[in-house]
Amino acid sequence: MKRPTCGVLMGELLKVVLLLTAVGVSPGVMGDCGGTYLDAKGTITSPGYPNNYPMNQLCVYTIKASPDTRIKFWCEEMKLQESVGCTKDWLMVNGVYVCGKTKLRDVYGQGELKVEFRSDNKIKAPGFLCHYERVTGTDYEEQLTNTLTASSTTGLRYDAPCECAKVIQKNEWRGNFQSDLVITVPKATTSWSICLRFSQPISNLRVWIANPSTTTGRTVTLTNKSYNGNQAQGSILKIDFIVSYTGVKPAVTSLTFNGSPLCLQ
Ligand SMILES: *[C@@H]1O[C@H](CO)[C@@H](O)[C@H](O)[C@H]1NC(C)=O
Repeated sequence: MKRPTCGVLMGELLKVVLLLTAVGVSPGVMGDCGGTYLDAKGTITSPGYPNNYPMNQLCVYTIKASPDTRIKFWCEEMKLQESVGCTKDWLMVNGVYVCGKTKLRDVYGQGELKVEFRSDNKIKAPGFLCHYERVTGTDYEEQLTNTLTASSTTGLRYDAPCECAKVIQKNEWRGNFQSDLVITVPKATTSWSICLRFSQPISNLRVWIANPSTTTGRTVTLTNKSYNGNQAQGSILKIDFIVSYTGVKPAVTSLTFNGSPLCLQ
């Protein structure tokens, strides 16, 4: 049998890459980790659905319509890791978190609806299959006082949108790990500083979109670059960093944003 030449192989690879790129840029494709959805109606699912979703995902799905248009959102299938208070894997709409098999039924938004999906570093499951559509009529007014009907009360948590930070590890090799620090900006700001505390001293820190006060030790302050000091309330700040260490692996144990502590998820 003749082996394909490198040229052919590269051609095939290129096709795959182009295909993936095409899928990646078109909004609203099923199974994407987040995106912007502009259609009058559509479906969103967890990444890879109906296969298990990957670990360490943070997906933000923004469903948009004109400001005077209502959007209805509901879930047909839900199979997420279950945890008390939905602190591990969860789906969140309008500050309501669900997990396990709790289905969201008829959640409404005006003009825009943000849906967030998070998976932690343990236990995968098939995930969710949900739909949205633009609606007219009176349902919405009734729903304003009762924004959610869940099929059960286990696996349910009501919360103000969380002022939380997440450290999501993406990569690890001997003496190093690479993570995203993901912060939902609690309050609009024109400049920021983030104080990070580690459980063990670090021996080096690489970070690209912030200036670190130091690259060693247990406490580091990250300040904004000239181009990213302005952050709206609720915007998501994702800071990619690489930590090097010797001995016990350090973990981020606490952090503050502009002096206020944020909980860590
Ligand atoms: C932080 O952002 C502000 C603009 O909002 C800018 O004036 C300041 O220089 C930035 N800080 C650094 C260290 O670049």
